[in-house]
Amino acid sequence: ILFIVLGAIAAYLIGSFPTAVWLGEGYYGIDVRHYGSGNAGATNTFRVLGKKAGTIVMLLDITKGFTAAQLASILALMGWVNADFLTFYKLIFGILAIVGHIFPIYTNFKGGKGVATLLGMALAIEPEVALVCIGIFFVVLLASRYVSLGSMIAALAFPLLLLLPRFSPDTPLLIIFGFALFAVVVLTHQKNIRRLIHGEENKTYLLRNRRN
Ligand code: G3P
Repeated sequence: ILFIVLGAIAAYLIGSFPTAVWLGEGYYGIDVRHYGSGNAGATNTFRVLGKKAGTIVMLLDITKGFTAAQLASILALMGWVNADFLTFYKLIFGILAIVGHIFPIYTNFKGGKGVATLLGMALAIEPEVALVCIGIFFVVLLASRYVSLGSMIAALAFPLLLLLPRFSPDTPLLIIFGFALFAVVVLTHQKNIRRLIHGEENKTYLLRNRRN
């Protein structure tokens, strides 16, 4: 139990690492929370600091969720947690990383929206489903130009896909928590939803043919 508690704390601290804020302030001298959507996430880093910084933040934020979930595999390998419940522990550690990302201890508990970290967790637990979700994200993004809409639909697609017999997970808990995490993503996107409804959400153009 000691190792589970230590792993849980480590997972939260890994998720807490405020990539967007520290990279922005440390390397560019810019706090992304004061520009664009004001969100300390990869999307806003793309928007404010450009592709290179955005990509770094995105990859690191995905790595946070992935690493936290994989901590469970290390503990199982060492025989410190019951390997029969590996998916469950990955899920719990992944969720703690997402909580850390949204409420980071290092920046007054004001963090990002949890999408990249959720993707990292999904890649660690159900890589095939996670890849399909990435595909869905890009389809929605290219069709609508809204990252936020793509994020929310991809987050919903994760538990929905797990309902298919083809992707049936080790434990139904993954589906239940998948829907709960979708609800969390909706909550962190409240401002985006309001902007989407009013037609004021930022549009993102992946290619250079900007039209507005
Ligand atoms: O993952 C966050 C994204 O869905 C929205 O970010 O900065 O447009 O609010 P942002």
